[in-house]
Amino acid sequence: MQSLQALLGIELPILQAPMAGVQGSALALAVSEAGGLGSLPCALLTLDGIRDELAAISGKTSKPFHVNFFCHSLPVPNVEREAHWRRLLDPYYRELGIDVNSIPSGPGRVAFNAEAADLLRAFEPPVVSFHFGLPSAALLAQVRAWGAKILSSATTVDEARWLEEQGVDVIIAQGLEAGGHRGMFLTDDLTTQVGTFALLPQVVQAVKLPVVAAGGIADARGVAAAMALGAAGVQVGTAYMLCREATTSAVHRAALQSEAARHTAITNLFTGRPARGIVNRIMRELGPISPAAPAFPLASSAIAPLRAKAESQGSGDFSPLWAGQNATGCREVPAGQLTRALAADL
Ligand SMILES: Cc1cc2nc3c(=O)[nH]c(=O)nc-3n(C[C@H](O)[C@H](O)[C@H](O)COP(=O)(O)O)c2cc1C
Repeated sequence: MQSLQALLGIELPILQAPMAGVQGSALALAVSEAGGLGSLPCALLTLDGIRDELAAISGKTSKPFHVNFFCHSLPVPNVEREAHWRRLLDPYYRELGIDVNSIPSGPGRVAFNAEAADLLRAFEPPVVSFHFGLPSAALLAQVRAWGAKILSSATTVDEARWLEEQGVDVIIAQGLEAGGHRGMFLTDDLTTQVGTFALLPQVVQAVKLPVVAAGGIADARGVAAAMALGAAGVQVGTAYMLCREATTSAVHRAALQSEAARHTAITNLFTGRPARGIVNRIMRELGPISPAAPAFPLASSAIAPLRAKAESQGSGDFSPLWAGQNATGCREVPAGQLTRALAADL
């Protein structure tokens, strides 16, 4: 099998995990320049934002990088469920002086679509990755047309086999330790979700494709251990969040550096889909999992003004403080330095 480095044109088998909301082109550039694969998460960007960020990257490096999209389907809005959810949040709106009628509803996150595919064609990014499965076959064919390699996350052996059948080039085995959204897409049963070192060898055995390990990997020993279990490379997210090139907010940085970072949980309160974050007030009081939260991505709009108001007062009580179970690798260092340190034992 061709090595991951040869397949993706990189020097080190270190992928910087796409992390929507806490990083943009600067982090991607720094990691790619250091020989890893930097990434640009697009889930929270407008088309103009994606265009600007892609221009910023391609103007400054000839090294490969990867562009990442969510590919969920939008649920039918449920007025009653939304109203019930807002009633549950009402005591917080009152506490923070927020007018409930001023809160717009709406999706918040747009899935990969034809407009995004058209935009990508102008830049021909060498690697494109997806979270929550894959877009339609027609959209995928458009991305393949310029020779982009396709990556997607699997959280179970079944998902890995399904992705292989669809012809992806690399599978990211996302263990339960991982920060941010679970990439799960064939099931919503959380009991199927297992840790990285339980999932990785099973996926390696089940598919012929290169498998990249993600979740809880935070230092060179973790990288070497994943490689020993058959990973072709690793994808590291949380450890990059304190790097100076990341745009991680002040409350998020403070939480990552505090005792609180030892307490993470899977929650659906912030978006409607399960994701791992540092336990905060709203997770303690309403969750971490609530059946009342609107379906992904609709849950995010009702909580957004609480988050904004609380953050303006220096509080992360209502923020999605996405983080994996292992924040011990977080360092306030240049991302290139961290990338090389992760590869030090290879
Ligand atoms: C703050 C944050 C945001 C994330 N956003 C995305 C995203 O936009 N797209 C994606 O595919 N994965 C996203 N993830 C998940 C990562 O791709 C990856 O699975 C995870 O970071 C690996 O685990 P680790 O954080 O323990 O290193 C995010 C993770 C974090 C911590």
